[in-house]
Amino acid sequence: MIEGFSKLSKSERRKKLVEMQVISENLLNRMEAFDIESGSQKMLDNISENTLANYFLPLGIVPNVYINGQQYWVPMVTEESSVVAAASYASKFWSTRGGFRTKIIGTTKVGQIHFFWEGNSAILESYWEELKKLLLESVEYLSENMKKRGGGVLDIEYSDYTHLIRHYHRIQVYFETADAMGANYINSCLETMAKELPAFFEEHFTDRLADCEVNMAILSNYTPQCLVECSVECPVDELEPISAGLGSKKFAEKFSQAIAIAQVDPYRAVTHNKGIFNGIDAVVLATGNDFRAIEAGGHAYAARGGTYTSLSKCEIYTGRFRFTLQVPLALGTVGGLTRAHPMAATALEILGNPTAPALMQIAAAMGMANHFAAIRALVTTGIQKGHMKMHLTKILNHLNASQTESELASHHFKNHDISYKAVAEFLQQLRSNRQV
Ligand code: MEV
Repeated sequence: MIEGFSKLSKSERRKKLVEMQVISENLLNRMEAFDIESGSQKMLDNISENTLANYFLPLGIVPNVYINGQQYWVPMVTEESSVVAAASYASKFWSTRGGFRTKIIGTTKVGQIHFFWEGNSAILESYWEELKKLLLESVEYLSENMKKRGGGVLDIEYSDYTHLIRHYHRIQVYFETADAMGANYINSCLETMAKELPAFFEEHFTDRLADCEVNMAILSNYTPQCLVECSVECPVDELEPISAGLGSKKFAEKFSQAIAIAQVDPYRAVTHNKGIFNGIDAVVLATGNDFRAIEAGGHAYAARGGTYTSLSKCEIYTGRFRFTLQVPLALGTVGGLTRAHPMAATALEILGNPTAPALMQIAAAMGMANHFAAIRALVTTGIQKGHMKMHLTKILNHLNASQTESELASHHFKNHDISYKAVAEFLQQLRSNRQV
């Protein structure tokens, strides 16, 4: 066991790991090579704990994004190749067909106080208004700034769940958090409210009813009321150029069948929705938001009817194709890392410093863009064609291929299966031919 590791400085931690033979000098040098000179290094070192090095991912950009008539250049951060390319492809296609149409359905967030008490709703009923008032007043000081920005506590509800778990009750609080994701504000409010409960029950009840034990107070990442919708629409005939020879009608039919499959088969729906989160997460990461919260909330929303299903739907009517996505996105454009991380702040600036609802719409549009491109590829050429092209580039880079070698390889592998071995052999052949 090692004690006090977290107390060491970053360079002490690296040395300690070399000393303990966890990493080699080589790895230590590699980590050092990724350090940056500017003052941002200190900020990066303090984002999480026991930091050793920077772990870079590329920040890419998607051009030609039109959302409700406004043009955006959308920054994306992802570890997956093809995501930015797919978003760019779909954005360009839809830019001349009305672009993405988005609307905010709601921006309400939720938090909960879970407590155990031997009474029931019938007993609490006549005290509820008084308790609610007390809880609201207890967080007034915390809400001052939030109120100035148009946010605050919207409502409080009580539920008796003693039929599910013995003595279990829940208070659910609804919040508007303006441009903040609001986790800190919500959790502070909930913890403050929770502290009021034991004294309230002690004051108003006797014997066993005077005892109330708070189990926990925490926001919920299930945000079905913080919801955005995005759609694209065009005459079926206009799908012709991307139908890969299928023809527009057949393409539209296969596309809508693919969506129908995800609506009834959870195994497919998970992968289908993952394709949506390829685009959403990349915007969420680029803007310093919490991608786990977004994923958790989105997948829960996909299962809201009791069975996990597609987040998107496709309608073909009177010769028109309409593709719609609804997804909860509790995003912020202030607070957390959004402004503290220099690249997140840069991404937000590129987007024109959007409000949180505007960012919800941008992220949803990129979810839609990636999803559209994925389904299009799946029902036409298959996705491996595009992926393999990227794969080839990666292998060629890894093998230090020159420009000419890369061009020759790209030509050759149009008609040959791509694998590391095959590319290495191809280059070896090229290089040995040249020596003769
Ligand atoms: C790969 O990252 C995403 C896809 O699997 C999505 C889908 O299947 O719809 C292509």
